[in-house]
Amino acid sequence: MITKQKMMGILLLAVSLTVSAQNKVPQLGKAPISKVIKAMTLEEKAQLLVGGWRIIGDYGKTFKERENPNGAVGATVPIARIGIPGTLVTDGPAGCRLPAERKGDSKKYYCTGFPIGSMLASTWNTDLVNRIGKAMGNETLEYGCDVLLGPALNIHRNPLCGRNFEYYSEDPVLAGKIAASAIKGIQSQGVGTSPKHFVANNQETLRTLNDARISQRALREIYLKGFEIAIKEGQPWTIMASYNKLNGLFTQAHYGLLTSLLRDEWGYKGIVMTDWTNPRDSKQQVHAGSDLLMYGMPIQVQQILDAVHSGQLSMQDVDRNVKNMLEYVEKTPSFRQISRANAPDLNAHSKIVRQSAAEGIVLLKNDNTLPFSKKVNEIALLGQGSHNFLAVGWGSGTVYMKYIINMEQGLLNAGYHILPAINDIYKKVDGEPEMKKDALKQWAGESDIAVITISRNSGEGSDRQNIPGDYELTGTEKNLIANTSRAFHAVGKKVVVVLNISGVVETASWKNDPDAILLVWEPGQEGGNAVADVLGGKINPSGKLPMTFALNYMDIPSSKNFPYIDRHIKDDWGTAEDRATKNYGYTDYEEGIWIGYRYFNTNKKPVSYPFGYGLSYTTFGYSAPTISKSGDVYKATVTVKNTGNVSGKEVVELYIAAPKGTMDKPSSELKAFAKTKLLQPSQSEKVVLQFNMSDLASFDEKTNSWVLDCGKYEVLFGASSIDILQKTSFYVKKGFAKRVKTVL
Ligand code: GLC
Repeated sequence: MITKQKMMGILLLAVSLTVSAQNKVPQLGKAPISKVIKAMTLEEKAQLLVGGWRIIGDYGKTFKERENPNGAVGATVPIARIGIPGTLVTDGPAGCRLPAERKGDSKKYYCTGFPIGSMLASTWNTDLVNRIGKAMGNETLEYGCDVLLGPALNIHRNPLCGRNFEYYSEDPVLAGKIAASAIKGIQSQGVGTSPKHFVANNQETLRTLNDARISQRALREIYLKGFEIAIKEGQPWTIMASYNKLNGLFTQAHYGLLTSLLRDEWGYKGIVMTDWTNPRDSKQQVHAGSDLLMYGMPIQVQQILDAVHSGQLSMQDVDRNVKNMLEYVEKTPSFRQISRANAPDLNAHSKIVRQSAAEGIVLLKNDNTLPFSKKVNEIALLGQGSHNFLAVGWGSGTVYMKYIINMEQGLLNAGYHILPAINDIYKKVDGEPEMKKDALKQWAGESDIAVITISRNSGEGSDRQNIPGDYELTGTEKNLIANTSRAFHAVGKKVVVVLNISGVVETASWKNDPDAILLVWEPGQEGGNAVADVLGGKINPSGKLPMTFALNYMDIPSSKNFPYIDRHIKDDWGTAEDRATKNYGYTDYEEGIWIGYRYFNTNKKPVSYPFGYGLSYTTFGYSAPTISKSGDVYKATVTVKNTGNVSGKEVVELYIAAPKGTMDKPSSELKAFAKTKLLQPSQSEKVVLQFNMSDLASFDEKTNSWVLDCGKYEVLFGASSIDILQKTSFYVKKGFAKRVKTVL
């Protein structure tokens, strides 16, 4: 019979043997990584390069059951023998996508629902986005994760892309700078980020096989440029390689993209993880520079082992990726054994949500209507969106929020009264009921103002499928706006339309009816409060459009081949059927660099609302600018003055009009921007904007070179891309042509 004493002795012996064995084996963090790699078996190396989602091995259970206390969406595998802990990664760009419920735990672990990416970009406020990043990073850390899978910065090539809500802009400088600020904010909390999806995930249709066929110039100047800025300025721990192909090769297995460009040319030092792909050609992915194959299946470990044994995959490639992974693990809170209290300051974070949402609201129209006058008390609140208010889109970019303040709650919280008769109708029906004209007439008499909320949602896995009824408002919605405007104007009262949308909608055909239009995107959990803050004048709107609102969908160059399947549209490029079938499995980015304002402004095409546009409750004046150069850095200064009678913030947008060289160039391109602090009436702020000589170059695909032409460069200071308030210029006397090695 084994006595207790004997059992203790056996246990102590086992522990001491393990410790001494470990003492003999180099441990991560204690021994140089080179020694750790030498001590690892091939099986351990292969294990480390594959996500731990379904590793069923000596743990006896799948990751999902074993290592998934908080519902994280992915993991890396622990290798205890050499002191490597597992690490956890969680979505997403609008906050942690973690379930509030945990198995066997009655406590709730709510995450904060922040404004969507497009709304963060609409703030044009890098300091604010940095603060939001800090809050997101804090929740990532507190809830036990090591990486937040964001920001998402694919270019808005076409408004029908289902995931545009997660993405920032049609412009790579705005996207890159906002992303870099988010990355720095999140990583300041000691957790990592994963800017995604690298590269050209600009549609959801057939996303795991679609071949994005893009010219070298469009790649370099548009689709890669945002990532280049975000990576060089943000230094992300990880990057996520997209599902799709780029010019015939899967990005996850694209050596030119992941090694020649990303590491050799840009000097990136972190890891590349793949998007959550089913097993593909693992040896090609490892060789190309995908360090971590997510989500991770045992077969991928086996594929790596087989490829090494058969000589199809070199140990040099395996060890290179293992080194990257070990350097990643050493950074993580799991490795550093940081304690996680699971108690983020959700109240403080909800205040940041409300402030940032209000700053991301864009005032599109205001005919002496907003902010509400003191006389406004009774509100006729119309539109299904007023009650089913959208805080975020769907898919991996969503957040399981504890609450969402809708329009009704936000207005009631702000002390306004809502006409009960209308509420009763909306609470009884789904969708958008037809409101009778005599009812609207009655409500116009009983209320002080009408607020109509139009909402649209979209998300991962599918693009927006329809022009009529999705991109364009439905007949019922248009009638509601027109009939409400007629009824309220008949008695001298105003109408406000609130756009609670995940992506761009058509506005030109109805925008003359209402007196004011407020774009509130999907503002996160404090939505209704943030909108009420702006409607009531507590906060002066300072958002600017990060993308163009075209007059018609067909005016958008990429509408020619974006794979929507609307069957009701015929135009001079053939029927929708042609286009939908024309690009099955691939998408020709035929428009090249000519997307958004680069196309519309250069070709002087009218739009409904231009890139960079947004109104304020006050007005601003810009002083005569100055520009100076030190080394390769240009510094432009302009003094902004609040010339109105309420406080407000102004975004100064700096565009460059480059001299004609050997290539066609956009009439102007955004090179820098800055947002003032809150300026009181008559208060001024000197705004300094910086850009480099290299930012002025265009990419010449004939010579695969960045080319800076000599000549006169005009510097335009705008309140939008077409509302230029001040100008100056400088000359480049000595240009350059810098050849790059990689062709993608
Ligand atoms: C999804 C998304 C990616 C997300 C990942 C984990 O397919 O494309 O953005 O981070 O899988 O959920």
